[in-house]
Amino acid sequence: MIGVTQPEPAWWTTSVVYQVYPRSFADSDGDGIGDLRGITSRLDYLHRLGIDVLWLSPIYPSPQDDNGYDISDYQGVDPLFGTLADLDELIAQAHARGIKVVMDLVVNHTSDEHPWFVESRSSTDNPRRDWYWWRPTRPGTVPGEPGSEPTNWGSFFSGPAWEYDEASGEYFLHLFSRRQPDLNWENPEVRKAVHRMMRWWLDRGVDGFRMDVINMISKELPLRDGVVSPGAVHGDGGPFYLCGPRIHEFLAEMHAEVVAGHESTLLTVGEMPGVTVEQARMFTDPARHEVDMVFQFEHVSLDQGDGKWDLRPLELTALKHSLGRWQEGLAESGWNSLYWNNHDQPRAVSRFGDDGEHRVRSAKLLGTVLHLHRGTPYVYQGEELGMVNAPFAAIEDFRDIESVNHYRHAVELGAQPAEVLDALRTMGRDNARTPMQWDASTHAGFTSGTPWIAVNPDHVEVNAEAAVADPDSVFHHYRRLIELRRTVPAVAHGDFTMLLPDDPVVYAFTRRLDDVELLTVANFSGEPVRPGLPDWQEWLGTELLLGNVAGSSGPELAAWEARVHRRTVAR
Ligand code: NOJ
Repeated sequence: MIGVTQPEPAWWTTSVVYQVYPRSFADSDGDGIGDLRGITSRLDYLHRLGIDVLWLSPIYPSPQDDNGYDISDYQGVDPLFGTLADLDELIAQAHARGIKVVMDLVVNHTSDEHPWFVESRSSTDNPRRDWYWWRPTRPGTVPGEPGSEPTNWGSFFSGPAWEYDEASGEYFLHLFSRRQPDLNWENPEVRKAVHRMMRWWLDRGVDGFRMDVINMISKELPLRDGVVSPGAVHGDGGPFYLCGPRIHEFLAEMHAEVVAGHESTLLTVGEMPGVTVEQARMFTDPARHEVDMVFQFEHVSLDQGDGKWDLRPLELTALKHSLGRWQEGLAESGWNSLYWNNHDQPRAVSRFGDDGEHRVRSAKLLGTVLHLHRGTPYVYQGEELGMVNAPFAAIEDFRDIESVNHYRHAVELGAQPAEVLDALRTMGRDNARTPMQWDASTHAGFTSGTPWIAVNPDHVEVNAEAAVADPDSVFHHYRRLIELRRTVPAVAHGDFTMLLPDDPVVYAFTRRLDDVELLTVANFSGEPVRPGLPDWQEWLGTELLLGNVAGSSGPELAAWEARVHRRTVAR
């Protein structure tokens, strides 16, 4: 049991992290884009929710090709968001409320406007040439022509992962946009520069890092072609850059150079697409000194087939199987991050719940199920209000480079525009990026100007002001969940047992610590259901810690009902 293997649990095992996407959170100066002063002005709201850590998506200087995940200066603040002094003030104000601040660390790639890349590009013998991945044209092909790229890999944002540079006659690698060249982590100078920069932020008072696609920094050499699946245009480079040969070494080195000695106060979380449970156990094993926890993607890929735009219905049994396996795999050592939402995912209520009649109830159910798992829960801005996907009407309504590029490429290749739009509406990242809904006024109290992306019209009903005023709101349900983690030790530290793995609508599991046992049981459907738990009758007589249907305590769960029961058991 956890209490036995980990006598003094790390602080973040009882914490809840709240993610702010600065561009869309709160605009203080009326330019239509959220900013740091806007965030500072809303800290009391976050404090009221009860969160422990604020993760800020990138606020660094950036051409904003990928909304700040293309950084041109790691040690500054983009004027769009304010100044370093504004950031210092935000950190100080957060700390004054007992909230830690974690920065996004985007070091798999920089912007093409970062001085390192500008130098690297300037000539083949520039000392920084080797800081990025430069390769000659494929032998026997015409430079710059399709098919002459050094490898056949596709980029995550459509098209090839290589861009031809006329001036030097070579290609550079970019796993994301062509304006996000990949850094060459084989070069020790690159690693030292990143470590220096991280220490600088820690000295400035930040409390840790969320590391963007950090399992892509080690590439297997020599770079070579990947397998092209039937119907695909590009080869799959994943096997050569996901958890590559030196990834553990690079993370252990980063830990030793930056984090060592401060472990008890910092948080490090590695975003790791494609990571397996076994790999995650290694990354997060405290004895290995790599990262505290990882973001894995398995549970948010179950409704996708061949790539994220290939929509598939979600089977609840598959979701339970996946999350259950992760709970089990990290039970003895390592730690889970728990999330449904972030700035790259559509809104969970629309995706896994019911964003119509049962919006409020299903939002509470999703929160309950997630927060009762073992791990550190992440709340993405607006999740605590039950915000839903946006009603995007046309391609012009989208802003995200991933969606816009995909639409262009897919339509060029002959896809039906209406079908592509449908996939964007369901899975597109802009669903998460519409402005935070503060009140019912025009533009939802997000800005006094014109928002950079349209506010969801449902803000007249779904907004923070209304939610805070309503004791029965999603907001107050999340507040209670966060409080439970702090006050009921079994929530943070109990062991985990999945129940009814084959039931297509009921999600049920227990948590156990010493003589306390918790049961979470949730109906993922719009029809009432009686859970087929062998000891359900006994549970019905126990304390109801939390529920989402007022007055309900009978044997049947109503549509989208979730309950948490507590009982004392023999040790
Ligand atoms: C993952 C980030 O979460 C996403 O928003 C970004 O586009 C890519 N990494 C590239 O930095």
